[in-house]
Amino acid sequence: MNHFHKLVASSVTCLLLIFWAPVNAQLVECTQVDQGGNISASAVGGCIAKTLQEQIGTGHGNKSKYGSAVYLIKRDPARSIRRGRQLFQRKFSAAEGQGPRVNGTSTGDITHSRALGAGLSDSCASCHGRPRGAAGYGGVVQTRPDGRDAPHLFGLGIVEQLADEMTRDLRKIRKQVIRIAARTGAMTTRPLITKGIDFGSITADSAGNVDTSQVAGVNENLRVLPFFHQGGTASIREFVIGALNDEMGLQAVDPVLCKVTDPADPKKKKSPAGFVYDPELDDFERPKVCDINADPDGDNVSNEIDAAVVDHIEFYLLNYFKPGQYRVTNKARHGRQLMDDIGCTTCHTADMVIEKDRRVADVETRYNPEKGIFNQLYATATMLTTDVDDGDNYPLAVPNEASFTVKNIFSDFKRHDLGPKFHERDWDGTVVTEFVTEPLWGVGTTAPYGHDGRSINLDAVIRRHGGEAEAVTDAYIALSASEKRSILEFLQTLVLFPPDDTASNLNPGNPGTSLPQDPSEHGSINLGVLFRIDAEGAE
Ligand code: HEC
Ligand code: HEC
Repeated sequence: MNHFHKLVASSVTCLLLIFWAPVNAQLVECTQVDQGGNISASAVGGCIAKTLQEQIGTGHGNKSKYGSAVYLIKRDPARSIRRGRQLFQRKFSAAEGQGPRVNGTSTGDITHSRALGAGLSDSCASCHGRPRGAAGYGGVVQTRPDGRDAPHLFGLGIVEQLADEMTRDLRKIRKQVIRIAARTGAMTTRPLITKGIDFGSITADSAGNVDTSQVAGVNENLRVLPFFHQGGTASIREFVIGALNDEMGLQAVDPVLCKVTDPADPKKKKSPAGFVYDPELDDFERPKVCDINADPDGDNVSNEIDAAVVDHIEFYLLNYFKPGQYRVTNKARHGRQLMDDIGCTTCHTADMVIEKDRRVADVETRYNPEKGIFNQLYATATMLTTDVDDGDNYPLAVPNEASFTVKNIFSDFKRHDLGPKFHERDWDGTVVTEFVTEPLWGVGTTAPYGHDGRSINLDAVIRRHGGEAEAVTDAYIALSASEKRSILEFLQTLVLFPPDDTASNLNPGNPGTSLPQDPSEHGSINLGVLFRIDAEGAE
């Protein structure tokens, strides 16, 4: 299935090159469906105009290879984000490699492959599809007996970067402790604090032995793992390759992670989106297929998905819009204060600073009844790149890597034990007791709650907190009914939004329109206006 195709211009796609080009939740390719032989009639935005091979272009490539994924990421980043989004929404077909579920017979030991409980979907968006057209939340899958809720992926790149910078800080402290202990000849202990979050302490002796028994909320190797509810994965790219395999039966080859995890000669590599993988510091997950057409464990897998697909999805999720904030009333403002007063924010840390932000744009989405049309929200996109001419036809759009203050994220990326009401049975009879603090941004939109989706509303999931949060939960329960409602009202301001239906400075629509259901009237977050290489078309 890994055929290498050149970019082919399709006459059908040209009919769909319309300015606002909206996209829906899960998308088929226009050439795979027709309307009685007429593809273009009323399907504008209802399908993907480019074929899969056109989206793959000239493959993974590099910054000088025209039409490759890396070329677009470096020189036309908004287009790569749009392409990644469409690949996230794409309904893959069996002919494109979708399936089988885990192996040829979809049977086996679930304690070895929890993916046997994940099912088989044809698109990422079939589980991460709400609100409409967003890389949001959605289905619960039985990868563990108690089920796991698909979290939303808004702001995912911010999460990845914060956790990675925290890891670097913690390891710097470890190095320092070892150095000081060696120099002074004395047992040395230092607190492990990064971005204001306390991960306990670390001790070293003069011989360089390190004692991690007082490290809290993170693995002993000090790698902060923000992805998976229990904290299992460091990077978006690993997750994309894993999800393609486990949830969709699509095996992706990857020149980055295959080199990083090469058993004979592991190499340090940077993904096109900028995540640095250093095999000397961490173990990363080896993709199932690292050689074209390899079938390593005889279960009928082969390289089906070009690395360009992984590149665009990773870049999309790195840059994906962070959640927005709906109307903040005085009552909600009071609720926010109460969260500080009773201690919610000891775990759900409100704001954090990224030191070197490698996203190419930020989108700030706020309640705005004047400019908001369909949903009273208005988004403002700001580019975070500088053009650098390197002699190519198109300049590089280099991320500024400036510091960025993240507001209202509400997580410390630490693992906590919230007591037996949150404990989760695993297939092998063990119990998962610790979960990473769920960032609360977006929480107003994402019921039901908890890693398992078992709590039906916000009040229920807050009351479910025990264990380390017991005193804080008692304080919540002791609040007056009106005070509790203030907290819930604040949490309800933290929302996700459908990008195709949200007016923005990239497509402000027509405020006051009598036709808000008309996509050309209600505005959208239209990345198309940021595209830089006209010859690549509208998608
Ligand atoms: C069958 C449903 C399903 C499909 C399809 C699916 N996911 Fe997920 N996804 C989940 C669930 C459930 C979780 C939570 C996993 C856990 O904690 O064990 C998750 C978690 C994630 C996370 C981690 C988020 C976090 O904050 O921890 C990422 C990233 C992700 N998915 C990306 C993808 C991508 C990319 C695709 C398509 C290639 C995809 N998913 C397809 C169900 C799905
Ligand atoms: C000891 C740390 C800690 C404290 C204190 C704490 N939380 Fe949590 N909270 C967590 C963790 C960990 C989770 C994730 C649980 C899971 O994965 O199921 C969570 C989950 C949640 C969720 C569910 C999010 C979702 O999307 O499912 C909400 C809402 C929430 N907390 C609100 C609060 C509020 C409000 C307070 C104060 C009354 C509070 N928490 C206090 C650690 C804490």
